[in-house]
Formats: sequence, structure tokens, C-alpha cells
Amino acid sequence: MLKLGVNIDHVATLREARYRGRDHGEPDPVAAALACEAAGAHGITAHLREDRRHIVDRDVWKLREVIQTRLNLEMANAPEIVAIALKLKPDIVCLVPERRLEVTTEGGLDVVANERALSETRKRMNDAGIEVSLFITPTPSQIEASAFVGAQFIELHTGAYAEHFADPEARQVELERLIAAAKQAHQLSLKVNAGHGLNYENLALLHRVPHMIELNIGHSLVSRAVTVGLANAVTEMLRLMEGYRG
Ligand code: PXP
Repeated sequence: MLKLGVNIDHVATLREARYRGRDHGEPDPVAAALACEAAGAHGITAHLREDRRHIVDRDVWKLREVIQTRLNLEMANAPEIVAIALKLKPDIVCLVPERRLEVTTEGGLDVVANERALSETRKRMNDAGIEVSLFITPTPSQIEASAFVGAQFIELHTGAYAEHFADPEARQVELERLIAAAKQAHQLSLKVNAGHGLNYENLALLHRVPHMIELNIGHSLVSRAVTVGLANAVTEMLRLMEGYRG
């Protein structure tokens, strides 16, 4: 069964729009995480960015306390955040690139160029009992480097697929790239997740990508929740994920 990890960052984005710098506020991403779990989500993802633009430290500590499924901490390979992760002990970390001017995580990690630093963090996390995923564009060299680094998972960046979804030819190219990447990763014993830009429209076709374990979805779920509620948004997404053959 294909699992759903819900990224709750945008719940915090909405809170910060009104309550930035305060120690409380609504909506509460932790309450949202619990509602997602109750609706059947298999995990919760939160990105503690260095600039704390949405999720803040108290969120991740509270999440660690109350999450019953799996906590996936998205993070940059930055000393301050690595130290927090080692104390927090999420079930898994997903290492992502971070640029302060980006609206959301835009590109994949350059694993090839950062093999040493990523290997070191991967080892420290694993030694603390935390699994490691690397968020990468679906290219052969990045997948090879991810295996070399010793990551347990890769998360395939589906942003280009989502971006080109309206153009059948371009989306086919991106889909084939994802399929080839998933096959290569599987051969190298890397477990495969995917995410970024996935929504209620582009999910069905993604079933053609083999070997996926979990999808991480945020923006479209939180957006849909505004009109139908979080539980319905999660249930509808889970329904679209049913029947995945792997
Ligand atoms: N996976 C990763 C690594 C991400 O950085 C993001 C965006 O924060 C997502 C998944 C979720 O993307 P979206 O919000 O577009 O569903």
C-alpha cells in the first residue's frame, strides 16, 4: 500500500501570517497533524527551516510528543538543525536544500557535490536511530551518490512532473524520468518516496512510477482542507492512492 505523509508546514504558514513571534496562535499545526492521523495519514512531515518561517521549534517538540505514526523532519544539513534533530529523534529526516529567498523547497539536494558532508550527517543520524532520506531530482548521478552516501531512502522530487502536468508531452518526459529513477534506486537498494507539487489531479498518473513507499503531500491537501476540512482532504487523497501496484 502506498503511504501518505502529510506535510503540515502550510498550516503553520497560516498561523505565522497573523501570530509571528508569539508563543501561540491558530491554526495549530499539531492539532492538524492529529486530525490527519485520525483520518488515516501514515506519517506527518514538518520542515524546520533555519529562518523558522512556518514551523517553529515548539511545534516539532510537541509533534514528537503526540504523533502516533511517523514523524519525518525535513531539514537542511545545517549544524544547528542537525543538533536539534539528534535530540528530537524524529523517525526519519529528509535532507533538503534550503535557500532563504525560495517560497518553498525548489530544487533537489546536490548529493554529488556534497557526498562527504551528507555521509557524515547520514551516519550521525543512523547512529542515533534515525533513518535518512535525501530529496533529489530524478537523475542517475544523484541516485548513485545517494546510495554511496548510505541513505535508507530517497525522496524523488516530483516538482518538474507537477509543473509540466498540463503539457502531455512534457509531463510524459518527466514521468519517464521518475520511472527510470525509481527503478535505478530500487536496484541500488534505496527505498523510494516522492513528493512536491502533488495534487488531486496529477496523482493518478503517478501510479506508473514503481517501487514507491510514501508520498509527501502538503500544499494541495491544506488548500483543499479550507473548503472540505482536513479529514475529508486526507480521505480523498488516500482514495486516489488506492490500488497502487508498486
Ligand atoms: N517533499 C519535500 C522534500 C518538500 O520540501 C515539500 C515541500 O515542503 C513537499 C514534499 C511537499 O510539497 P507540496 O507542499 O508541494 O505538496
